[in-house]
Order: sequence, then C-alpha cells, then structure tokens
Amino acid sequence: DELQTGRPQMIRYKDTMLPIFVERILGDIEDFETDENDIWVVSFPRSGTTLTQELVDLVQSEGDFVRVVTMTLEERFPYFEYMYPGIKSIKKMDSPRLIKSHLPFSLLPKSVREGKAKVIYVARNPKDTCVSYFHFVQLLKPTFRFNGNFNDFFSRFINNKVPYSPWWRHVKEFWDIRDSPNILFLKYEDIVEDLAGTVLTIAEFLGKDIHPMEVKTIAEHCSFDRMKYNKNLNYSWWKETGIADKEGQDFIRKGKVGDWRKMFDVNQNLQIETMKYLKLNECGLRFDEGI
Ligand code: A3P
Repeated sequence: DELQTGRPQMIRYKDTMLPIFVERILGDIEDFETDENDIWVVSFPRSGTTLTQELVDLVQSEGDFVRVVTMTLEERFPYFEYMYPGIKSIKKMDSPRLIKSHLPFSLLPKSVREGKAKVIYVARNPKDTCVSYFHFVQLLKPTFRFNGNFNDFFSRFINNKVPYSPWWRHVKEFWDIRDSPNILFLKYEDIVEDLAGTVLTIAEFLGKDIHPMEVKTIAEHCSFDRMKYNKNLNYSWWKETGIADKEGQDFIRKGKVGDWRKMFDVNQNLQIETMKYLKLNECGLRFDEGI
C-alpha cells in the first residue's frame, strides 16, 4: 500500500496500516518493558497529541518550565516507534519516562497492555482529524510525496489507507478500556474548551498536587497562540531541514473544532456519519464536531 505513487509508505500489520519505518522494529515493540512510572501519550495522528504531551510534561514535572523551554519536545517526550531517537535510546531514559506513540492499543508492548504504565489517550472527532491529517500530509509533501487533493486523501482516510488507520478501531480500543485505573481517555474538543480543567484532570490522574497559580500558567503556556510560535514544540525546523514543504501550513495549524465544514462535501460527511454509526454507535463514543 502506498500513500501515493513512488516508494511504499506503509505496511499492513494485523489489519492496521503502519508507517514504513515501523517495519524494522516490529520485533522489538512487543517485549519493550515499561513500568508504573512511565507515562505514555497515545493517539491517532492529528488528534492533539502535541498539546497533550506538553500538558502532561508540565503536570508531571510540576511546572518545570526550565525543562520545557530548554529541551525540544522530541528530546523530552520521544515518539516510541519512530527511528529517532529509537527504542534503544528510550530504554535508557531516566525514569519517569514520557513516551508518545500512535500505535493502537492492541499493538502496544505487552507490558503496556498489561497495565504496567499510565496511559493518556487523546481522541478527536474524525472529521477534523481527517482535515488536519490532510494538511499534515501536504506539509510533509517532500517526505510523503502525496500529490492528491482533499478528495483523494479523504478516500484513503475512509478506506483505512492512511498510517495508523483504521481510525475508528484506534479510538474504540481505548474507549472500551477507559475505566481501567491506568488509562485516562481525553477528547481534543474538551481539552481546548477547558485547558485549566484538563490540567487538573491530568494532575489527578498522575497523583500530582498543582497550585492554582501553576494551573493557570500551564494553561496559558499551552494555549494555541503560544504553542504555535513555540520553537520547542512546533516542529518548525522541519521546514529548514527539507522534510517539510516551506509553503505548507504549520504543524500547529488552526486548532479549531469544526474546521472540517470548510472542506467536506455532503457525500463525504455522509460517509463519515455512516462509519461512525456502524462502528461506534453501539459503544456510545460521541464527539463534539463544532458548529
Ligand atoms: P489542526 O490541524 O486542526 O490545526 P497532533 O499533535 O496530534 O499532530 O495534532 C495536531 C492538531 O492539534 C493540529 O490541528 C494542531 O493545530 C492542534 N493543536 C496543537 N496545539 C494546539 C493547542 N495548543 N491548542 C489547540 N490545538 C492545538
């Protein structure tokens, strides 16, 4: 399977599409040892991962702003299945380790599935996720070589042909275990609606006592406008290194709920509604899709 003509971008593994770089480490994932001090942030791409990571880092470090301004997010909170820094380096990180992953629950290491670490999952409504993913793929055009339009991308999204899809199974696997004591299930729409409230929710989950002033400072630091221009978070260096298209929209792009309305046609909306009805209606997972 390819995102576009040219070199293969993905592999299909256990009915999930994975980026090609995961292929080499498939054998190392299952036995990776995690422990009760590790904190994982897991999501389907473009669901508010970066925002959640920054919130979690600041809550965990009890507002250590020196840490977050002197280190990039990738250094502090590495992407588990990506080649940099790589699983070997993540193994050697000091505890408590903060780890990001886009793997669905069923493909995470056994120790994570057994509940040995704390996992914060963030889900976003599929329509905004799809639009955000499209802009992301456009931004990474030099890497993904996707030349299609939104309609082309939409077809791939709904037909489970983008990395980490199917989307519905990704969110449903975590939704089904949301009441486990080591799982916190968050929604992007709730986070952006109430950043300070989310700081408190995360603090409670991690067993941290955060002073009200600190809550306010963390929420301000994680506001869209501040994050968009924060060079430790916004992956702006991609444009300098040639990974990303200089003309592409930023990694931290718009941060809106309901932006899909500008992109979707009636038929696309119907397809997502049908997918939601067939796959998620019964389990009760609902999303705010904005106005
Ligand atoms: P948009 O493309 O809709 O703007 P991820 O980090 O999982 O890749 O998610 C990226 C999405 O989260 C992007 O959505 C990005 O703009 C949004 N985002 C990042 N930081 C944000 C913040 N502080 N507030 C609101 N949205 C944010």
